[in-house]
Amino acid sequence: MQRARWINEYTKHHNLPAQYGEVPSRALSNFLSTHQLTPSEKAPQALDVGCGLGRNSRELARHGYEVVGIDIVPSAIEEARAITAAAELDTVCVFTELSSGDPLPFAPRAFDLVIDMMTLHSLNAEERAIYAGELLRVMKPGATFLLHTLATDPASTELIASNPGPEDGSYVLPETDMVEKVFTKEELLALFAGLECVSLKPQTRETTAFGSTFTRTYWIGGFRQT
Ligand SMILES: C[S@@+](CC[C@H](N)C(=O)[O-])C[C@H]1O[C@@H](n2cnc3c(N)ncnc32)[C@H](O)[C@@H]1O
Repeated sequence: MQRARWINEYTKHHNLPAQYGEVPSRALSNFLSTHQLTPSEKAPQALDVGCGLGRNSRELARHGYEVVGIDIVPSAIEEARAITAAAELDTVCVFTELSSGDPLPFAPRAFDLVIDMMTLHSLNAEERAIYAGELLRVMKPGATFLLHTLATDPASTELIASNPGPEDGSYVLPETDMVEKVFTKEELLALFAGLECVSLKPQTRETTAFGSTFTRTYWIGGFRQT
């Protein structure tokens, strides 16, 4: 688990501007615009894995979901709670300090939707295996898993060559010592083989981090519990 490095991100570095704002992840906005709830529907239960300050959790709550956000950084969880209370969403959107690389304290089949907006790449192989197993356990039949994660691309190839990480497809970010893993399509399909892959598409775009703008490729995936 990379808790100490993520604590530094929130307390010292602030290298990832998007996660400090209220604009939700594009992958989530696109999902919500095409999966609208009917007004009479009972509030679906959502899990936001690696929720950070909770921008995506609150967006889900605004769209009618009851949400649990989990993250490993205590100050992020506290701040997520405060922002959510100020937005008067705290009755439907709660936050807990947990690692997605550990067994989760949720009941089997607890969630209709699980989102992972840029957290999977922080886990090591052992944590990913636990995570994939826990997803299968906590998702209801028919539930969706929405994934936004790093793909292999020219930028990651350069980073792997200059600062290789502990496993294939990983590198150490020189600015923060954070290890990131990039994924091939085959790796993601194998990791989440227990779920049905509905869609898994690469998306290349510019992203701002560490005070610079980079071109990176991401996987946007939708998986379904059968
Ligand atoms: C790039 S940020 C994205 C935050 C949020 N999903 C968003 O889009 O605003 C990744 C988040 O994952 C969290 N994280 C990293 N490893 C984690 C783990 N093992 N379990 C839970 N959260 C983790 C970090 O603390 C950080 O908040």
